[in-house]
Amino acid sequence: MTAQRTLVLLKPDAVQRSLRGEILRRIEAKGYDIVALAQRTATAEELAAHYAEHEGKPFYPGLVEYMGAAPLVALVVEGVNVIKGFRSLAGATNPTEAAPGTIRGDLACEQDLPVIQNLVHGSDSEESAAREIGIWFPELG
Ligand code: TYD
Ligand code: MG
Repeated sequence: MTAQRTLVLLKPDAVQRSLRGEILRRIEAKGYDIVALAQRTATAEELAAHYAEHEGKPFYPGLVEYMGAAPLVALVVEGVNVIKGFRSLAGATNPTEAAPGTIRGDLACEQDLPVIQNLVHGSDSEESAAREIGIWFPELG
C-alpha cells in the first residue's frame, strides 16, 4: 500500500493538559511523519465543516463549543495505512472503553460533561481525510 495522509487534531483538552508533546511523541515513535502542524483557535466555520456529519446530534452543540473554546493543534500525518493506524493509536471514542496503550485509553477518562473530551481526532476514511485536510490546510488540499 502506498503512503496515505490523515488529518489529526490535538483537541483543546490535549493543549490545556500539556499533552501535545506526549501525543506527538507517540505519532513519531510509531513511525509516522508529521508533514504539517499549526496551533490556533478553530473558527465556527471550520468546526461546522469538520463536524458536519454530527450536526443535529445531541452532543453537537457541546462538541463545537468545546472544540472552539481554546486553541487546538491541527496536523497532517503521513504513512502507509495511517488513517486506520492513527485511529488504532487513538483508541475508542469513549475513553472508558479505549484500550490501555492507546492515547485515549492511557491519557483520558470520562468526565461528567455533555460531550466526550478525548484528546484527539483522526480522519475515519480516505474521503474524510481529503475533505478534512482541505478544511484545516487548504494549501495542501
Ligand atoms: P465520532 O466521529 O463518532 O468519534 P471519533 O472522534 O472517535 O471519530 O464523534 C466525534 C466526537 O464527538 C467524539 O470524538 C467525541 C464526541 N462524541 C460525544 O461527545 N458523544 C458521543 O456519543 C459521540 C458518538 C461522540
Ligand atoms: Mg469521527
